[in-house]
Amino acid sequence: MSGPRLNGKVAIVFGAGSIGEGWGNGKAAAAAYARAGARVVAVDLNAAAAEATRDIILSEGHEAIAVAADTTSLADVERSVEAARSAFGRIDILHNNVGITSQGGPVETGEDVWDRVMTVNVKSMFLTCKAVLPLMEQQGAGAIINIGALGGVRWTGYAYCAYAASKGAVNSFTQSIALQYAGKGIRANCILPGVMDTPHIYKQISGFYQDNDAMVAARHKMSPTGRMGDGWDVAHAAVFLASDEAKYINGVELFVDGGMHARCN
Ligand SMILES: NC(=O)c1ccc[n+]([C@@H]2O[C@H](COP(=O)([O-])OP(=O)(O)OC[C@H]3O[C@@H](n4cnc5c(N)ncnc54)[C@H](O)[C@@H]3O)[C@@H](O)[C@H]2O)c1
Repeated sequence: MSGPRLNGKVAIVFGAGSIGEGWGNGKAAAAAYARAGARVVAVDLNAAAAEATRDIILSEGHEAIAVAADTTSLADVERSVEAARSAFGRIDILHNNVGITSQGGPVETGEDVWDRVMTVNVKSMFLTCKAVLPLMEQQGAGAIINIGALGGVRWTGYAYCAYAASKGAVNSFTQSIALQYAGKGIRANCILPGVMDTPHIYKQISGFYQDNDAMVAARHKMSPTGRMGDGWDVAHAAVFLASDEAKYINGVELFVDGGMHARCN
């Protein structure tokens, strides 16, 4: 291998902002792709968040553009893909990070919340793949990285049925694409983070706890390592899966969870 492992590649990251100060999974992935040599299209519902990620990448001497778009809208997704095409001419890496967390089982979860979680977490990936796959097929190459969750395949202690079901769907959706396109040079893989210390949890998980300190202590304890992971753990896994070094890795669910999936207590 010569030079950074993603040299010459273009990555589009949906959900490339962060919901708060610091490094979320999507923001870290966008920065990590750039550091590995890719040109990056940072897409987010929140324009300022997308621009903040773009500005970090530019300040580090790499190339990026920012696009404000809602991944639940096909028109917005197509506009993002067009922006990528006109800025950089191709898309080699599609990274689907957009995801929201819900709280509650079937009794506590409103129908509107169920629909929203399914739409944001699953339909978004359907729409981005719908828009990007024809381009990858034309290129005869592409790598798709979908962010699922350990909670999509295991009970992690949280009663969040809509979130769990949506992340389960991410896995089967990814596998279906991986197999349909395996002969066309396109790979699709999932990353399943466990408990990660990202800005997201202070907004969308803290409601399960008395306060943030209680949440942080409990989540450190949940991990077999004694510590939560962070956005960079997800980002480094994504860079590998997106690279040609992973050319024979397709349709996998890669746990990034310190081994939590293997534990039965
Ligand atoms: N933090 C954890 O412990 C953990 C664990 C497992 C899985 N995950 C997954 O990681 C992903 C989120 O990670 P993060 O740290 O980057 O979270 P984040 O909330 O900081 O970032 C998500 C970004 O997506 C954007 N977004 C939300 N809805 C959108 C939409 N409809 N269109 C476009 N953009 C939209 C938000 O504005 C935000 O900037 C989710 O898929 C989540 O399920 C996180």
